Amino acid sequence: MAKKTIDQVDVAGRRVLMRVDFNVPLDEKGAITDDRRIRLALPTIRSVIERGGRLILISHLGRPKGAGPEPAFSLRPAADRLGELLGGTGVRFVADDCIGEAARQAVAALADGEALVLENLRFHKAEKENDEGFAAKLSAFADIYCNDAFGTAHRNHASMHAVPLAMAGKPRVAGFLLQKELQYLSETIEHARRPFVAVLGGVKVSDKLGAIENLIGRVDSILIGGAMAYTFLKSSGRAVGASLVEEDRLEDAARMLAEAGDKILLPTDHHCGRKPEAATPTKHFKDDIEDGWMGLDIGPETIERYRQAIGDAKTIVWNGPMGVFEIPPFDTGTRSVAEAIAAATGQGATSVIGGGDSAAAIEAFGLAEQVSHVSTGGGASLQMLEGRSFDSVDLLEEA
Ligand code: 3PG
Ligand code: MG
Repeated sequence: MAKKTIDQVDVAGRRVLMRVDFNVPLDEKGAITDDRRIRLALPTIRSVIERGGRLILISHLGRPKGAGPEPAFSLRPAADRLGELLGGTGVRFVADDCIGEAARQAVAALADGEALVLENLRFHKAEKENDEGFAAKLSAFADIYCNDAFGTAHRNHASMHAVPLAMAGKPRVAGFLLQKELQYLSETIEHARRPFVAVLGGVKVSDKLGAIENLIGRVDSILIGGAMAYTFLKSSGRAVGASLVEEDRLEDAARMLAEAGDKILLPTDHHCGRKPEAATPTKHFKDDIEDGWMGLDIGPETIERYRQAIGDAKTIVWNGPMGVFEIPPFDTGTRSVAEAIAAATGQGATSVIGGGDSAAAIEAFGLAEQVSHVSTGGGASLQMLEGRSFDSVDLLEEA
């Protein structure tokens, strides 16, 4: 399933349309708060410009309405950051419609070794609709298609799907980031060294059902945390107080616990509050939670059990926080799990952190360099845990 990569095509003098995922988080002032997705695309970008290719970068950012430009979702901050990361070598940003006249002219004016960034694809609703007419305009810009947007790999949107379809017959290859993510996530799951432990958290059981179903036959244990634990606990007869529960998933949760035998570990104590707020009164409960209290983090006994399971593991995948880690003191469980994973990695385990919240958490705790791989994909890495493949990747040439 290895894909042909950008270094295997001659790009000199040719126009390369590269789909990246520059969907980076911005603060209220529009400044980038985490530029990992841009930094990790640099090897692919450099590979094109250093060999004299003419690079056209396309991406989405956020979820604009799709009815024209919205300044808060402009890709300009990402283009500026890319220019800085490339050492100020002037990355041109086309502050206009990605398929408009200005874009066409800028593409035509590109010289060998130059790069430009087109404005947010999602300013057109045609992007999400996988629209062929929109794709035809983008694909007409280039001789070569390169996909380095792992974070968007699970979306059959025009730039990921209709564009490479429209470019059949031309080189359609993977970038290095896409390649690395696919390899890491699939190898880790397919050829896991044992014990293999999955740590799953987050708010909703419904988001993680597919991953649990795929992993249950492969792992030695699944450690559950986050609000999703309370749907499991309620389904097994525990009192969960005011904790978040997905009532319509209680049956699924009960079925999964029955199927999993003792492979699924659930929290046995809870750090609770009245509300998910920093100033809320807090209380520790073992097993059952009283009415009016909400489980907001795993408790110390659970942390200890999870630490031990992680410490024994040779392969660890983690997706989803153990509690409301953005609001101390409810970050303790997530932090402890992150520390345990980093320590196990130091002892030789392979660890893969799914993107989204768990990636943000491990970055915030300063431990990202101490694990094997932190994915740039949230939804995309979760789909890999579900054992699913991506149409956008299937369209690329085999190596
Ligand atoms: C992400 O951050 O999950 C990807 O960039 C995809 O964005 P989306 O979830 O808005 O489709
Ligand atoms: Mg998403």
